[in-house]
Amino acid sequence: MYAIGEEIFFYRAGPHDFSCATCHEQSNKRIRLQQLPNLTEHTEVAEAYGSWPAYRMSQGLVRTMGWRLQDCFRQQRWPGLTFGSEVSIALQTYMAVNAAGGVMTAPGLKR
Ligand code: HEC
Repeated sequence: MYAIGEEIFFYRAGPHDFSCATCHEQSNKRIRLQQLPNLTEHTEVAEAYGSWPAYRMSQGLVRTMGWRLQDCFRQQRWPGLTFGSEVSIALQTYMAVNAAGGVMTAPGLKR
C-alpha cells in the first residue's frame, strides 16, 4: 500500500496534469492565504498527518483525512475519491509511514 500511495502521490493526470506533489512537494508555498504543507518532508507531513481528524471551522464539522483527500482530488480535477477505497488508504498509508515518529495532535483545528 505504501508503494501504491507513493506512485499515486507523484502521478500526474487530469485536465491540469497535476499530481499531489504539484501542490505538496515544496515548503513555504501558498494558494491565496492557505499554507500548502510539503508532504514529502518528514516534519511537515508529520504535522499535517497528526492533525487529522480535524474540526473545520468554515463548515462547523469534524472531518477525517479521507475527507481532506477527496477535497484535494476535487482541487486536482480528478474523478471523485471513494471513501475507504484502496487509493484513499494507499495515500493515507504513504503519509502515515512518512510521518512515523511525529506527534498526534488530533483533533486539529482548521479554517
Ligand atoms: C491544486 C493544489 C492541490 C493539489 C493538487 C492537492 N492538494 Fe492537498 N491541499 C491543497 C490545499 C489548498 C490544502 C489546504 C491547506 C489549508 O487548509 O491550509 C490542502 C491540504 C492537504 C492536506 C492537509 C494538510 C494539513 O496540514 O491539514 C493533505 C494531507 C493533503 N492536502 C494531501 C493531498 C494529497 C494526498 C493530494 C493528492 C491526491 C493532494 N493533497 C493534492 C491543495 C492541493
